[in-house]
Amino acid sequence: MDLTWAERVAQRNDEVRAAGRWRSVRPLAGGAPATKLHDDGRPVISFASNDYLGLSQHPTVVAAAHAGLDRDGAGAGAARLIVGARPVHDELEAALADWFDRPAALLFPSGFQANLGVLGALAACSPETLVLSDELNHASIIDGCRLARATTAVFRHRDVGHLGELLDTHRHRPTIVVTDSVFSMDGDAAPLDDIAQLTRSHRALLVVDEAHAVLAAPPPPDAVVVGTLSKTLGSVGGFVAAEQSVIDLLVNSARPFIFTTAGAPADAAAALAAVRIVAGDEGDVLRARLRRHVDAIAPGHGSPIVPVVLGEESAALSVSAALLERGLLVPAIRPPTVAPGTCRLRVALSAAHDDEQVELLRTALDELGVSP
Ligand SMILES: Cc1ncc(COP(=O)(O)O)c(C=O)c1O
Repeated sequence: MDLTWAERVAQRNDEVRAAGRWRSVRPLAGGAPATKLHDDGRPVISFASNDYLGLSQHPTVVAAAHAGLDRDGAGAGAARLIVGARPVHDELEAALADWFDRPAALLFPSGFQANLGVLGALAACSPETLVLSDELNHASIIDGCRLARATTAVFRHRDVGHLGELLDTHRHRPTIVVTDSVFSMDGDAAPLDDIAQLTRSHRALLVVDEAHAVLAAPPPPDAVVVGTLSKTLGSVGGFVAAEQSVIDLLVNSARPFIFTTAGAPADAAAALAAVRIVAGDEGDVLRARLRRHVDAIAPGHGSPIVPVVLGEESAALSVSAALLERGLLVPAIRPPTVAPGTCRLRVALSAAHDDEQVELLRTALDELGVSP
């Protein structure tokens, strides 16, 4: 059929609408949990943000961003290999390496790009590289595997036995095992100790994405760590922390590092202030507060991401709308973010919530009969 591009695009959009999967961005006035819908000014309490420790609004973090802006201006100007690193980029890398107890770290403009960069660069070390990836890994890992053009095999979610079988089958290939440490839509944790042991015994390399690991144990000491500045640290950007040789490889071959402008210095300054908070005594206090909120909604659950799986799109959308009627913003998550038939509410808790806000949510979930 000889369609114009405008008609093709409209047709595609209609298909998405007809499947009940249409998405649009909701305007929201501010970043604190108590905020307003921008279009009608309605007050809401947000349980949607990954700002797990509330650091995006922390006065010390905000002041550091202001100071960074005044000192270094708004943008980095170019990629760091072209224009050079600002001192704050180097300082932040040193702080991140320290925090994860790795020899070195490298910043990327986002966590998404960090995954693309690390998987592409490591896989390119050998034409034989095999990547073994958990089936529920984040989209940036999936795309990282695709862009790496390495052979990829997917192991069943958190299934160490299946991973072991794949490692045995391919024992003569250079292999990378990659997993989220906490999965972004289920909030469950990878069995990292078992995975690390298996990976070591097969002389494979483990890459762990720590994006949501705010309440989790530290990653295995020999893993390449991927992280984000955009969630627990309340800023924006991504990073890899690893052996110096891996970082050197990334500087020399990771395209999402080489061919993109460095993150804004003010964002790095904010993240640096946030790392100092997270790694210090105040970090313990914030994590304890977050732990208490998680326990109020889902006792003993290991992360601030609490899924309430409801099935079809319509069920998730209608419960999300009912919560919004009560002033509670809890997003409905639908395909392609999750598998068809597993649509859900994704409750994201934060140390920035107060007890009363969490109690309002708990009561509302109870009344709607959809407790986790
Ligand atoms: C597991 C995981 N890795 C990476 C990312 C990407 O991080 P960023 O938002 O910094 O691009 C996300 C979320 O967005 C994530 O959930």
